[in-house]
Amino acid sequence: MNDFKSLTPKDTVSELDKYIIGQDEAKKSVAIALRNRWRRQQVEPPLRDEIAPKNIIMIGPTGVGKTEIARRLANLAQSPFLKVEASKFTEIGYVGRDVESMIRDLVQLAVNMAKKEERSEVEDKAHEMAEERLLDLLLPSMPKPAGSPRIGMDANGAVEGTEAPDEAESTRDRFRKMLRDGKLEDKEVEMEVTQAQSMPMIEVFSNTGMDEMESNLRDAFGKIFPKKGKMRRLKVAEAFSLLKNEAVEDLIDMDNVTRQAIQKTEQSGIIFLDEIDKIASRQGGGHGPEVSREGVQRDLLPIVEGATVTTKHGMVKTDHILFIASGAFHMCKPSDLVPELQGRFPIRVELKALGKEEFFRILTEPENALLKQYVALMKTEGIDLIFAEEGVLEIARLAAEVNQKTEDIGARRLHTVLEKILEDLSFQAPNIADKIFTVTADYVREQLTDIIRDEDLSRFIL
Ligand SMILES: Nc1ncnc2c1ncn2[C@@H]1O[C@H](COP(=O)(O)OP(=O)(O)O)[C@@H](O)[C@H]1O
Ligand SMILES: [Mg+2]
Repeated sequence: MNDFKSLTPKDTVSELDKYIIGQDEAKKSVAIALRNRWRRQQVEPPLRDEIAPKNIIMIGPTGVGKTEIARRLANLAQSPFLKVEASKFTEIGYVGRDVESMIRDLVQLAVNMAKKEERSEVEDKAHEMAEERLLDLLLPSMPKPAGSPRIGMDANGAVEGTEAPDEAESTRDRFRKMLRDGKLEDKEVEMEVTQAQSMPMIEVFSNTGMDEMESNLRDAFGKIFPKKGKMRRLKVAEAFSLLKNEAVEDLIDMDNVTRQAIQKTEQSGIIFLDEIDKIASRQGGGHGPEVSREGVQRDLLPIVEGATVTTKHGMVKTDHILFIASGAFHMCKPSDLVPELQGRFPIRVELKALGKEEFFRILTEPENALLKQYVALMKTEGIDLIFAEEGVLEIARLAAEVNQKTEDIGARRLHTVLEKILEDLSFQAPNIADKIFTVTADYVREQLTDIIRDEDLSRFIL
């Protein structure tokens, strides 16, 4: 467990910088939190267990990068990382997902991760096994040389008396060589292909708050309808990859995978609770959604404080899972959360509203910057889309202006504004003769001024 490399807080921040403009404090906090996971692992046991994670709440208006930070962090953290919307949970007994389901999802993620890791470890062995199985298929009437693994396909074991065992051995070696040299690519083999039965009816059950039941059902159905085998003729390459997958499944020690996954979840799992303000309000009568919201907080509390949750992979203790929550907190404050929950999120960071300077950078700097996306899209039509700097400045300025006049939706405004500016071009792109298109400040204004002048119109269109 101690061998995983942890990014230093500085590394984490510079990774996040590639995608998110500004919001330095939030980046710093999550980077420290991430590193603290690793630090705790280095501490010796009795004290280690005492070190509780310092959960974080990110507070900031909509569209300033809260969710984006979480998404990017998920890619960086080499630990199970789950992002959930707090608003989709409801109190136990109500329609919606129960809070414990996030722990079950987190473990499932961890299982998938561990399985992937294990897979790369058995890769070589599986390759070898697949090769032997394929040779069995290619040479069905040959006696198997002693010691070669006899797994999978039943080749009837038919021994034909024409060849002596060592001759058979050498034929097999010859085939093996041809196989490796890719000389058998065009050959076909017949093999049994197993296909998991699809179970469309299961969909009916999802999102009804019966997650555990759903997964149990899935398992149960899996047993009732066992995997179906079907004889098919396949090209060698395709057969090989199927055989290899089968070999991988055979070689992976699922008990070990599960054990590792649970340990990883407990020791380094991270849950990002988005939109926590949606469950924050405490005032109100005591019926309707209010009950449900406070109920969700009550349900959430033991999980954040440390509880044991039963999952289909085993029991999971939540004491050391890190929670990062985020919310706009427009209508309410973090102090509207039930006090026990507030206490469990000691670190608060604020994200700032974005203005035209940030917009300009967001449009141009990130690796996936919006303008780069549009340029790439137009390229597919053979058009060189060029954004003049004054054009980009104008887009940033107008987006900020619309945010001010109507509603501040942060960087999301850039999407709507850009879409409008480029609408004509998008529509006509395939038919345009001129293959270079420059977006100037004038062009931007031309496309937008009528709309922006009319406040009501901009509410609808931008
Ligand atoms: N600081 C930022 N830097 C770069 N892109 C941003 C920034 N803030 C928001 N965005 C972009 O705006 C959109 C909405 O951001 P998001 O993080 O989902 O907002 P929220 O803060 O409401 O969760 C995303 O496409 C995101 O990439
Ligand atoms: Mg968000």
